[in-house]
Amino acid sequence: MSEDHRFYAGKKVLITGGLGFLGSNLAIALVKAGARVTLVDAMIPLFGGNRFNIDPIGDEVEVHIGDIRDAELMDEVVKGQDLLFHIGMQTSHIDSMSDPLWDIDINCRGNMIVYEAVRHHAPDCHVIYAGTRGQYGVLRETPVTEEHCMLPTDIYGVNKVAAELYGFVYARAHGMRFTSLRISNTYGPRHQMKHGKYGILNWFLRLALDDATISLYGDGAQKRDYNYVDDVTEAFLLCGSHPETTVGEAFHLGGDEPRSFKETTEMVLAAAGSGHYELTPWPDERKSIETGDFVADHSKFTRATGWTPTVEMEEGLRRSVEYYKKYREHYW
Ligand SMILES: NC(=O)c1ccc[n+]([C@@H]2O[C@H](COP(=O)([O-])OP(=O)(O)OC[C@H]3O[C@@H](n4cnc5c(N)ncnc54)[C@H](O)[C@@H]3O)[C@@H](O)[C@H]2O)c1
Repeated sequence: MSEDHRFYAGKKVLITGGLGFLGSNLAIALVKAGARVTLVDAMIPLFGGNRFNIDPIGDEVEVHIGDIRDAELMDEVVKGQDLLFHIGMQTSHIDSMSDPLWDIDINCRGNMIVYEAVRHHAPDCHVIYAGTRGQYGVLRETPVTEEHCMLPTDIYGVNKVAAELYGFVYARAHGMRFTSLRISNTYGPRHQMKHGKYGILNWFLRLALDDATISLYGDGAQKRDYNYVDDVTEAFLLCGSHPETTVGEAFHLGGDEPRSFKETTEMVLAAAGSGHYELTPWPDERKSIETGDFVADHSKFTRATGWTPTVEMEEGLRRSVEYYKKYREHYW
């Protein structure tokens, strides 16, 4: 076990959204590192909360099925925690446009409830916030650095910026130990596979495994940085184990190599050994929130923690296909 993982031995760690994709993968790694892990998850049907996700650690974690908007619950669960990985939020770009007040309720009001709980009941806790590449909107220059302006194209992105800024206000005014990790497109085991509202590469994997047709909008040339989920889990762990360089900072992650949607889709089809794709015109609801190319310079995070992505896409897709073929009944 590395020094960075040993850091967690005996540490008390809370994860919101702990039964979802990023939260459950992180919980498994933390239990392995010897942390005492508590999970809070509202299991809202649209999202990726899934009991099976924590099957490998079922009785080794404390689970609260509850909402971050429940102040009484949050006040109680933050007490005594050394670290809080705050990952449980509204995640759908599309739904934030059709139901903006719902997005505000979870991603603004809900986040404030979490920060208030930390302020009053766990003032020494290090809060690591799951931010998103969507906070930047359409890039003015690539590769993007953390100094790039933030002009999101959807309500979800705006509220993710707001919640990050609330965190930095609490850091300044109340001394909250806060880090924002702006995550790029992540794929791999334990994602919801029921719809394509978010987590697009995972959705493409499902379509390919079903031998269905993947619709690529426009010419499919827009580029993205992708990360395999184990690399994102490692980024969360390093963020927590390097407070001397991460507290008070925002970082983003990025992949080893930007790839177009078309290239990525061809890799998905090859990994699945089935499926097809077609180019189709942009639907209005997608076109209006599309950000164009996203290519990130993650060197700030590398300098702070030593992190670099290690799982190449061919390998990440191979592992993902293997997982979903084996456990299909729990995700389809
Ligand atoms: N997966 C990615 O590619 C990616 C990229 C950028 C940012 N993010 C951020 O990471 C976070 C989680 O993403 P994910 O991919 O793990 O999604 P997910 O849907 O798999 O997990 C989110 C979990 O949070 C829970 N949740 C939602 N609202 C809640 C609430 N009000 N109270 C308690 N729990 C609640 C859901 O039930 C779900 O289990 C989101 O905040 C998202 O903005 C993810």
